[in-house]
Amino acid sequence: MESTYPDLTVAKLIEGKGLYEDKCSRCHGLKDPIAYTPEQWQRITPNMANKARGRQIEISAEQEETIMRYLVTMSSPR
Ligand code: HEC
Repeated sequence: MESTYPDLTVAKLIEGKGLYEDKCSRCHGLKDPIAYTPEQWQRITPNMANKARGRQIEISAEQEETIMRYLVTMSSPR
C-alpha cells in the first residue's frame, strides 16, 4: 500500500469507513471512493465536512481527518 499515512492502522481505516457511512450519507448517496483521486478527496472532504456542520451534523477535526484518510487510502492506485 502507498505510505501516504505511514501510521495508519486497520482499526483507524475501519473507523473512517464507519464515520463516512454515518456522516456522509445524510444528504446524498455514498460515493465510491475509487471515483475520485486522492487529491480530489483531500479537497472535497473538508468542503463536505463544512457543509455538514452547516446542517448541524457534528464532525470533529479528528473525525474529518479519519474520514479523509479512509477515502484517500481507498482511492489510491494499488
Ligand atoms: C449537508 C449535506 C451534505 C453532507 C452532510 C455531505 N454532502 Fe457531499 N454533497 C452535498 C451536495 C449538495 C453536493 C453537490 C453539490 C456540490 O458539489 O456542492 C455534494 C457532492 C459531493 C460529492 C461530489 C462533489 C464534487 O465535488 O464532485 C462528493 C464526492 C461528496 N459530496 C462527498 C461527501 C463526503 C465525503 C461527505 C462527508 C464528509 C459528504 N459529502 C457529506 C451535500 C452534502
